[in-house]
Amino acid sequence: MVVHEFTVVPGTWMPRGEALSLDLPCPTAIWQGIPGEKSLIHVYHRGRNLWMGRWLEAIEQADPERVDPPCDRYSACGGCPLMHLTPVGQRRVRLDLLRKAFEDEDVPLGRVAEVVPFEGPQREFRHVVKLAAGRSERGNLRLGAYGRNSHAVIPIPECLVATPSLREAMKVVSHHMIGLAIPPWDAETGRGLLRYVVLRQSRASGDVLVTLVAAHFSAALVTLAEEIGRGFPAVVGVHLHVNDGEGNAIFQHDGDGLGGTRHLVGKGVIEERLCGARFRIGPGDFFQTNPSMAEKLATEAVGALLPGRPLVDLYSGVGSIALLGAATAGWAIGVEEVESAVLRARENASLNGVPAEFVMGQVLSVLPEIQTRLGATRPNVVVNPARRGLEEGVLGAILALDPARVLYVSCNPRTLARDLRDLLKAGFHLASVTPFDMFPNTSHVETLVVLDPSSAARDEPSRGPRRRRVGA
Ligand SMILES: C[S@@+](CC[C@H](N)C(=O)[O-])C[C@H]1O[C@@H](n2cnc3c(N)ncnc32)[C@H](O)[C@@H]1O
Repeated sequence: MVVHEFTVVPGTWMPRGEALSLDLPCPTAIWQGIPGEKSLIHVYHRGRNLWMGRWLEAIEQADPERVDPPCDRYSACGGCPLMHLTPVGQRRVRLDLLRKAFEDEDVPLGRVAEVVPFEGPQREFRHVVKLAAGRSERGNLRLGAYGRNSHAVIPIPECLVATPSLREAMKVVSHHMIGLAIPPWDAETGRGLLRYVVLRQSRASGDVLVTLVAAHFSAALVTLAEEIGRGFPAVVGVHLHVNDGEGNAIFQHDGDGLGGTRHLVGKGVIEERLCGARFRIGPGDFFQTNPSMAEKLATEAVGALLPGRPLVDLYSGVGSIALLGAATAGWAIGVEEVESAVLRARENASLNGVPAEFVMGQVLSVLPEIQTRLGATRPNVVVNPARRGLEEGVLGAILALDPARVLYVSCNPRTLARDLRDLLKAGFHLASVTPFDMFPNTSHVETLVVLDPSSAARDEPSRGPRRRRVGA
C-alpha cells in the first residue's frame, strides 16, 4: 500500500514560497508548510528529484505566524503562496530568502534593516492583472490564472490582491469573451484566438487600460474591445497585441519592441503619479504593480544618489527612476530596449519638465556611447534589470564608466547576489541593502542595493556630460 501522509519538520524556504523538507527519501516541497513546524503532509506527486506535498495540519503547536489563507482559490491558483502567514511572518521569509541567496554567492549581507513593510491590509494593492484565456474541463470558455502546478485556467473574479476596479474589469472582459464566443488560443492544435488579457489600473486616476493578446488579428476582437469599453466606464482604452510566437511569453518583442500592438478603442495610455511626477503608461510598458511601494523605493533610491553627478539609468522602462532622480543628479540618461517605452519616457520627461534623455537599445550596445559622452565625469549608475539580472558583458561596460556610485534595484535575490559578487570582486563595497514588500503574499523580494567604489581616490569633483542625444 502506498503511503501518502507523512509527519515532517521542513527545514528551509524554497524560492517559490513552499517549505522544503529533507525528512523523506526525496526532498519534498510543501505547499502551505512552514519551516520548523512539525506537520502532517500529503504527498501528491513523486518526481525523480523532488516530491510535492501539501500541508494538512500542525502537530503539537502551529507556528505563531500561521493564519488561514483568506482566499478560497489559495491552493488552486497558487499566486499568493505566503498567504498562510501574517505580514510579519511573510517579511521574515523574504529576509531569509535574501540571506540565503547572498550566502550562496558569498556576498556578505551584513546587518539589513527589516524589510520595508507594505502598510495596510495585504489586499487590493495589485494594479496589474495578467489573465490567460482557456477552457474548463467541460470545454467552457474561461479567463483566469494558470493553476498551481498545472496549465488549467482558474477563474479568479474575486482575487483579493487585485484592486476592486480590476476585479470588475476582469468580470466584464470574461462576460463579453464568453458572450461573443471568442475562442481561446490552443497551443497544441495551433487553433483559436485569444491568448491573454492584461489589465492595468492607474492609482491616480482610477482609469483602466486593457490589452488583449491574440494569436492573430480578427474583427471579433474589435467588437470585444467595444463591448468592454461600453461595459465598464473605468476602462478608458483597449489595445490588441498580436503574439503568434511559441512559448508562454505574454508579449512578443520584435526588433523595435512591441511591434504587433494596435490601439482599438478609447485612450492609448493611462497616467500614473509617483512622488508627484506624472507618468504615461501604455500597453506592454513595464511599471511596478504596487504604486505605494514603488513610491517608497523610488524615494529611497533618489535619496541615495550623489548630488550633482549625472544619472545613468539602465533598463529605464518609461523613465520612473531617471525622471525622479534627474533633479538631484542635474541630468539623467536612460537606456531601454522597448521602443514604445522609450517614446513614453521622452514624453514623460517633457510632461514633467525634467532634463533627461532616453536612448533606445540594448544596454550592452549603448553603454560605450554613453562612456564617450561622459568622458571623465563619474556618474551615478542605476540598474534595474529583469529577473535574469545583468546580461553577460554589461558589468564590464558599467565599470568602464567608472561610476561614483551604483544603485542596483532587483526583483530576484539570486541574480542580484550573483551580480553583486562580481561588483565586489571589481572593488565595490555594499553601502546599504534595503528590501521592500513590493509583492505581499508572495516570496518575491524587491531590493535596493547601494554600492560605492572602495578606493579612496574616488572623490574628485564632477564635470558635466556633453548633452547630445546618442543612439536614438
Ligand atoms: C524591471 S524593468 C525596470 C523598468 C524601470 N526601471 C522602472 O522602474 O519602471 C526592466 C526594463 O528593462 C528593459 N530591458 C530588458 N532587457 C534590456 C536590455 N538588454 N537593454 C535595455 N533594456 C532592457 C525591459 O523592457 C524593462 O522595461
